[in-house]
Amino acid sequence: MCFLIVLLSTIFATVVADPLYTACSTEYGNYDLGSPFEKNLKVVVETLPSISSSTGFNNTASGIFPDNVSGQALCRGDVTSSACQTCLREASQKLLKECKSKDATIWYEACQIRYSFQNLTSLNVYAGKYPVLESEKKSVSDTVHFYDYVKLLMDNLSIDAALNHSKLMFATGEIKFSSNETIYGHAQCTRDIREDECQECLSFALLDLKGCCSSKQGGIIVSGSCNLRFELYKYYNASSHLIASPTPKGRGNWKMVAIIVSITTISVLTIVIGSSIFCLRRKRRNYRDMERNHLALLNELAISRGITLTEEGQLVSSEDLPFMDLNTIIAATDNFADSNKLGQGGFGTVYKVSYKGASR
Ligand SMILES: *[C@@H]1O[C@H](CO)[C@@H](O)[C@H](O)[C@H]1NC(C)=O
Ligand SMILES: *[C@@H]1O[C@H](CO)[C@@H](O)[C@H](O)[C@H]1NC(C)=O
Ligand SMILES: *[C@@H]1O[C@H](CO)[C@@H](O)[C@H](O)[C@H]1NC(C)=O
Ligand SMILES: *[C@@H]1O[C@H](CO)[C@@H](O)[C@H](O)[C@H]1NC(C)=O
Ligand SMILES: *[C@@H]1O[C@H](CO)[C@@H](O)[C@H](O)[C@H]1NC(C)=O
Ligand SMILES: *[C@@H]1O[C@H](CO)[C@@H](O)[C@H](O)[C@H]1NC(C)=O
Ligand SMILES: *[C@@H]1O[C@H](CO)[C@@H](O)[C@H](O)[C@H]1NC(C)=O
Repeated sequence: MCFLIVLLSTIFATVVADPLYTACSTEYGNYDLGSPFEKNLKVVVETLPSISSSTGFNNTASGIFPDNVSGQALCRGDVTSSACQTCLREASQKLLKECKSKDATIWYEACQIRYSFQNLTSLNVYAGKYPVLESEKKSVSDTVHFYDYVKLLMDNLSIDAALNHSKLMFATGEIKFSSNETIYGHAQCTRDIREDECQECLSFALLDLKGCCSSKQGGIIVSGSCNLRFELYKYYNASSHLIASPTPKGRGNWKMVAIIVSITTISVLTIVIGSSIFCLRRKRRNYRDMERNHLALLNELAISRGITLTEEGQLVSSEDLPFMDLNTIIAATDNFADSNKLGQGGFGTVYKVSYKGASR
């Protein structure tokens, strides 16, 4: 007995999934039980599964004003007509049971049904709903770049769904996110709205998807006229084209930046350490240079080798200089006073010469 219940409930569970979301609109009030509206409603909603399942979409209407009702059914583009019919049957029963409002919609993974006192044909009012999938409760490991890939995929699918007439406003696709993760998605519109309306509806839905699910392992947004979804597994039953991943701009670049930073750091360290050693050596040599300055200058003068003196900023080479005796130079440079030192040249220390008493 227990086994039978478990078996039956298992079969039941595999055939009929729970609705994703049920929206009984509170805006327009409820219809009266036993009213003509309710009678028309039942005709519309119970007719929808049989007239919609073969093509996956249809509209129907019943009654005259003010009790006229219109209804619409849509199956996800990849489901078989029998799976579509099973889903729509369940949906129509559930919707009549759950809602008593004059306007309502129910969404399942494989199908949706809506009815209203308003003419639903071409009625495109975006009102996104956010059913919470199991996958939506888990976050992805790389939260920084994930949504860029989801957006790339969804933008592509939205255009495909809206503009590719061979696809009945349904598009599936996949994009490789990492070595072990591929994002699968679909975008779909009801076939009664225009291309631009479909694109607009999906762009609103994508904004909502960003809000709820930009770093989640899955997400779905449903609205009356469009829906979109992504998962890290292939949840649909259709061949899907692979969308090209972005050039290694996002994550690839981080590796590049890391390499460049490493090289720069190593280079800077090499330069700093190298020049420190160089400066230390140079400093030591400078001390030695200072010691021999006076003697060297006297020596250089004595052997009459090139010496450069400056005269009011003008460089004068020693070859052009008239002969000067050492006493004149000593007097002119104030006995090689540090205050007369201009700098250190290639030939030795350079002194400023004051011409008081010195003749050219
Ligand atoms: C919609 O249903 C009507 C009535 O059954 C049918 O004639 C029509 O072919 C259906 N349209 C589509 C697109 O399935
Ligand atoms: C609903 O609107 C469509 C397009 O605007 C129109 O073709 C259709 O006849 C209308 N249906 C009803 C029942 O008013
Ligand atoms: C019912 O009829 C009224 C008046 O013709 C119309 O405005 C309204 O759109 C119709 N509703 C449906 C569901 O077709
Ligand atoms: C429309 O979809 C079909 C089937 O996937 C594809 O072969 C075709 O290239 C698409 N057309 C456009 C314009 O994208
Ligand atoms: C993919 O690999 C990363 C680590 O590289 C891991 O964190 C993540 O859970 C893996 N994802 C799946 C779906 O296996
Ligand atoms: C997937 O599609 C194949 C081929 O159309 C079909 O045989 C199979 O039953 C489908 N599976 C589901 C779960 O719809
Ligand atoms: C969608 O992606 C495919 C494959 O990367 C590409 O050929 C196509 O041009 C894209 N379509 C749009 C509208 O971006």
